Amino acid sequence: MKLLSTRAFLKTAGLITVGLVIAACGKKEEAAPAAQAPASAPPPPPPAKVVVVGTDAAYAPFELQNEKGEIVGLTIDVVNAIAKKAGFEVKFVNTPWEGIFNSLQQGDRDMLASSITITDERKQTMDFTNPYFDAFQLIAVKENSKVAKFDDLKKLKVGVQTGTTGDEVVTKLLGKNSTNVKRFESTPLALKELESGGVDAVVADNGVVINYVTNNPAAKFKTVSDKAFVPEQYGFAVKKGNTELLEKLNKGLAEIKADGTYDQIYAKYFGAAPAAAAPAASAASK
Ligand code: ARG
Repeated sequence: MKLLSTRAFLKTAGLITVGLVIAACGKKEEAAPAAQAPASAPPPPPPAKVVVVGTDAAYAPFELQNEKGEIVGLTIDVVNAIAKKAGFEVKFVNTPWEGIFNSLQQGDRDMLASSITITDERKQTMDFTNPYFDAFQLIAVKENSKVAKFDDLKKLKVGVQTGTTGDEVVTKLLGKNSTNVKRFESTPLALKELESGGVDAVVADNGVVINYVTNNPAAKFKTVSDKAFVPEQYGFAVKKGNTELLEKLNKGLAEIKADGTYDQIYAKYFGAAPAAAAPAASAASK
């Protein structure tokens, strides 16, 4: 009997394998590419896992639900642009702010994109990407309010969204046990309460406050800024140690900043390039 050359053997073995595969799955299309691939070819990569993104979509213009119930906004556009560049799929899941960090911890979400300020305290329990947006706290009051600076809020009832950086600064000013800090599930709820007179002021992120004031002229609000508020930066959070996703996000973010995509997204919501600093009050139209 003639010995088969290695090549011939591999070919024969390959054909047998292909035959088996065809027989096993009965689908020629699936087996066909294998016949062309060399015997040593690695198996095709498994289908990419969809990255589940948690967001508290009650934070216009950053993350919100439109009339159709779709989750949209600046943060969403930035994540989608990054995902496109980096070649992964994302799925946004509306997640209440109060449980959002826990959902990451538990592995229910792979990342959080929710205008989250990067803070030292949060860095202890999660990893952050490079910043994607600059922000600061801003005070909203009724047009006729005498409030002119942050300190003026000391004896007043102040609304905040629970567990936000706004909550932190107000709690610090009014005192840990102050009953004048009124905490709400969402920032719009706090602003509604200001409208109805239940609180005297609201402290929240500038972009969101300006958006609300601009879009709700009937509420008759004005904004008050104060140098006491330190600059904040939004980042995307991943579970501590998830360097694989973190690196993809940072790389994608750098790319969309470099190629102008980020500027386009920014301009769509704020009407000017980020270099123009503070969000224009004229923007924010839906
Ligand atoms: N930037 C603030 C913080 O990190 C508020 C973010 C709230 N985001 C939201 N989608 N509700 O504390």
